[in-house]
Amino acid sequence: MENKVSKIGILTSGGDAPGMNAAIRAVVRTAIYNGLEVNGILRGYQGLIEDDIYWMESRSVANIIQRGGTILKTARCKEFYEYEGRKKAYENLKKRGINGLVVIGGDGSFRGAVQFSKEFNIPCVGLAGTIDKDIYGTDFTIGFDTAVNTAVQAIDKIRDTMEAHDRIFIIEVMGRDAGYIALHSGIATGAENILIPERKTDIEDMVHSLQEKERRKKLVNLIVVAEGDNFGGAEELHKVLKERMPQLEIRICILGHIQRGGSPTCLDRLIASRMGYHAVECLVQGQHNVFIGILNNQMNYIPLSEAVKSKGHINEEWMKIVKILAS
Ligand code: F6P
Repeated sequence: MENKVSKIGILTSGGDAPGMNAAIRAVVRTAIYNGLEVNGILRGYQGLIEDDIYWMESRSVANIIQRGGTILKTARCKEFYEYEGRKKAYENLKKRGINGLVVIGGDGSFRGAVQFSKEFNIPCVGLAGTIDKDIYGTDFTIGFDTAVNTAVQAIDKIRDTMEAHDRIFIIEVMGRDAGYIALHSGIATGAENILIPERKTDIEDMVHSLQEKERRKKLVNLIVVAEGDNFGGAEELHKVLKERMPQLEIRICILGHIQRGGSPTCLDRLIASRMGYHAVECLVQGQHNVFIGILNNQMNYIPLSEAVKSKGHINEEWMKIVKILAS
């Protein structure tokens, strides 16, 4: 394929995240401003394989900046893991003369883009879009702020009833592999315990501290657990705590997909708009196969291949803060 990008495709892939629409809008309008043609690809890599692609103009993205979900729809596409699937995708791009790709998604979507660009020499640029915030090299991912604020609002409400009844509550938030939503929402709501996949849960320590609180007549206790915590999420934890302390009133609440929906916060709209603008700048300037992150409020272009090698890591200081503030 020729090197100068003139016609781009844009897709959203993996779990949707609030702010993806703002990113699509920014990419489409910046591309048109730069004289590029834009094609929307429906249902992520699945639509690329099935040639579910349509021409987009400036008005195609009117009135979407405030909407959750993604107008391009999304999917987790197994077929794209296979060479045959990727070849079909390439044939469709070639047929349409699309010579640049913008991928909005998480690390799984970036992995697909790395492989695809390597095999077929298609310039790809990634935008970090995931509520999990588990991408190396960026302080923000599109959707995280909205998801965490949704979780905080829900937990605050649960705290009211928890306090009224003197109960222990276990609240499960999203995060199969990453504990950022649990950590941020837990600290922001004053949780006593925060359980995340990145740290092994010490159940004995937890039981001991709950027993000690019971002796002090402190009967309320908020536990925020990420779904991918090594203990197995809220239900498993509930079972074990009930076995060990049957006298205590323990309730659970699994927040689930409510965290993925809703109108994006101002922060998510802003970072999506900035990232979308820079994605097109990268393609135009020939900075290919990078993803757009934001570090220390600076735009950060990181090779996609680097992004998929490592995850962000949880700073020890955060864990210390949790312990001190919950005492
Ligand atoms: O997009 C990330 C995420 O929300 C994870 O936190 C969660 O484990 C997963 O997606 C759920 O995926 P699905 O909607 O496919 O069940």
